[in-house]
Amino acid sequence: MVDALGVAVVGFGWMGRVHTQAYARVRHHYPRLALRPQLVTVAEEVPGRAEEAADQFGFAAVTRDWREVVADPRVRAVSITAPNFLHREIGVAMAEAGKHIWIEKPVGLTPQDARAVADAVAEAGVQGTVGFNYRNAPAVETARDLIAAGEIGAVTHVRIRLFSDYAAHPDGALSWRFERERGGSGVLGDLASHGADLARFLLGDIASLTADTAVFVPERARPSGATAGHSRAAGGALGPVENEDYVNCLLRFASGARGVLEACRVSVGEQNNYGFEVHGTKGAVFWDFRRMNELRVSRGTTYQDQPVGTVYVGPGDGEFGAFQPGAANAMGYDDLKVVEAYRFLRSVAEGIPYGATLTDAVHSATVLEAMTRSAQSGSWVDVHP
Ligand SMILES: NC(=O)c1ccc[n+]([C@@H]2O[C@H](COP(=O)([O-])OP(=O)(O)OC[C@H]3O[C@@H](n4cnc5c(N)ncnc54)[C@H](O)[C@@H]3O)[C@@H](O)[C@H]2O)c1
Repeated sequence: MVDALGVAVVGFGWMGRVHTQAYARVRHHYPRLALRPQLVTVAEEVPGRAEEAADQFGFAAVTRDWREVVADPRVRAVSITAPNFLHREIGVAMAEAGKHIWIEKPVGLTPQDARAVADAVAEAGVQGTVGFNYRNAPAVETARDLIAAGEIGAVTHVRIRLFSDYAAHPDGALSWRFERERGGSGVLGDLASHGADLARFLLGDIASLTADTAVFVPERARPSGATAGHSRAAGGALGPVENEDYVNCLLRFASGARGVLEACRVSVGEQNNYGFEVHGTKGAVFWDFRRMNELRVSRGTTYQDQPVGTVYVGPGDGEFGAFQPGAANAMGYDDLKVVEAYRFLRSVAEGIPYGATLTDAVHSATVLEAMTRSAQSGSWVDVHP
């Protein structure tokens, strides 16, 4: 008999929906998972949104006030999918109430926020999983294994890119994302946070960096009503964009490897162009999120003119086998969240962390904070984990 685990979702925008779908699907893909998530409550401040979620997914209760979730003994695990400025307060409160948390990146606005949630989770002895979903792609896990096994030699340099057009439209609403108090550092928290996590996942700690940032769309229209995801607000009164559209960063890894990390949210013509190129003394690996199940690999002993081949990930790579029976049957973005749900629930069931944790969130946030310091000072800065 599998135990039920009461879960709540706080914030039912894009990510709240994706977490909920992942809870609904996780046992389809992981029938041996020792816990069965049971949707207890959805907390959402926009009137009607929680009710719609309950109607569609079967949450037993709805609330406009996430504090009711803290006090609800039926809830043992919580997805925190509200905007960044709420991560710390909600994360700390849930952990202190003894609830396991699956929290979205970047976990607050600053490294102090991420650390506060990490400390609360550690003190309460609960599990904390963070939404760094790109590292859950089987091809990314295989790239990490290849690199760690020395298949491309000693890593020399890496390029990590996260280009998106989600904020490129001039009518894109001035949502919480563009405010410093509620969204933090803009594209740094939105996209570069994933890049910093991938960098460390693949190559280890970043020792120092220098960064440059820019705002390319300085004003946006204020929305007249509630927003979700990347809504439009044509004709609304204009207000200032307070945080970064773009960051470009040179990295020095503790290993001695060098890197470039570039992220932009206003890149016309770029739709989720996320990926990396890792070069070593004997080979290279290339990954592009848009072809998520392919890894391009160059390895051998020829150095010059060495061929590059495409590997389609298959059941031996990461969690691929939980989704598809053979290589080149594509997994998609939402599947990465199912993998994340599985790792979260497995952490809870076994009392051991699997997947990205709050320690990883602190590291990522520390890199973002170093980028901001460097962009202000115009110089190289050390990254202090
Ligand atoms: N891992 C990823 O790939 C990924 C992708 C997108 C967003 N995110 C992260 O997920 C989080 C949410 O992003 P999103 O795109 O879903 O945003 P969103 O704006 O679509 O959703 C946020 C929801 O939270 C609700 N909300 C705001 N204040 C609330 C409160 N006090 N109580 C309850 N609900 C409240 C909003 O009404 C909205 O429905 C952010 O931290 C973001 O960085 C992660």
